[in-house]
Amino acid sequence: MPESLYEKNQLGVGFTFNTPVIYQDYWLSSWKGDKPLLDIGCGHGVNTHAALMHGAKVMATDMNKPDLTDWLNDLPVAQQEAVTCSAAKLPDNIPFEDNSFCGILCAEVFHFLGNEEVIPSINGLYRILEPGGTLLLTCCSCDVDVLKCTGISEQIRKDFKKSPSTISGQRDYLSLLAQAAEDFNCPEITDPVLAAHDINIPGRDFCFFISDQLGELMKNVGFIIEVCEQGEASHFPVWSHGDRDQVRIIAKKPE
Ligand SMILES: C[S@@+](CC[C@H](N)C(=O)[O-])C[C@H]1O[C@@H](n2cnc3c(N)ncnc32)[C@H](O)[C@@H]1O
Repeated sequence: MPESLYEKNQLGVGFTFNTPVIYQDYWLSSWKGDKPLLDIGCGHGVNTHAALMHGAKVMATDMNKPDLTDWLNDLPVAQQEAVTCSAAKLPDNIPFEDNSFCGILCAEVFHFLGNEEVIPSINGLYRILEPGGTLLLTCCSCDVDVLKCTGISEQIRKDFKKSPSTISGQRDYLSLLAQAAEDFNCPEITDPVLAAHDINIPGRDFCFFISDQLGELMKNVGFIIEVCEQGEASHFPVWSHGDRDQVRIIAKKPE
């Protein structure tokens, strides 16, 4: 578990990552010199930093107003002035006008939603994205290698087959991880991981996704789906990784 890839998220929940989001270029290249980019659930702002370096204006948000002073003060004044920090929480507190952003990044946030919050959150993201804008969304999949032995992937895929438009991936993540640790039977490796999760996501359920389902739900609200896949996520702070751990979606709002 390479510590440097992530750290405790000081103001929000979960870990915050020190690695740029996959497909970051898609988000950056949606900057057209006018409306800002949005980094929703920005954590400590690794992707906001990249967007500022790219020359974009950025709205950096998290459940509480993010504090990016750790690195922001080291940037040139023009870049310091190009970022606005604000509180925003999916799905009920998205205090932005319709069509406010040219591009939206929502990296590793959706798994913190409850089942019933997923569709309202997709609707909210669609509403605030300008026509022609791009949404890049990543989150945890139900096929995460570390939880394979718990049968969660099979359960969620079975529910999906029965009722494709119903989100049912919400689970008690810490219990599942503890179960997987027992199966792994190597406490020297799993105990520190469990302890870190206890601190970072206390009492939180996780919602585990299937890329095809999320892509379909996004299509239903009007998005054009450009990428809809699952892939590896070696930065996830767990003891094993697979090639379908992360859901990645790149979606466009039609012109
Ligand atoms: C795993 S961190 C990812 C941080 C950052 N996006 C990154 O990739 O490094 C998830 C972030 O989402 C925020 N978050 C959790 N639930 C949220 C919600 N309902 N709305 C907005 N942000 C949320 C957390 O506070 C946290 O900062």
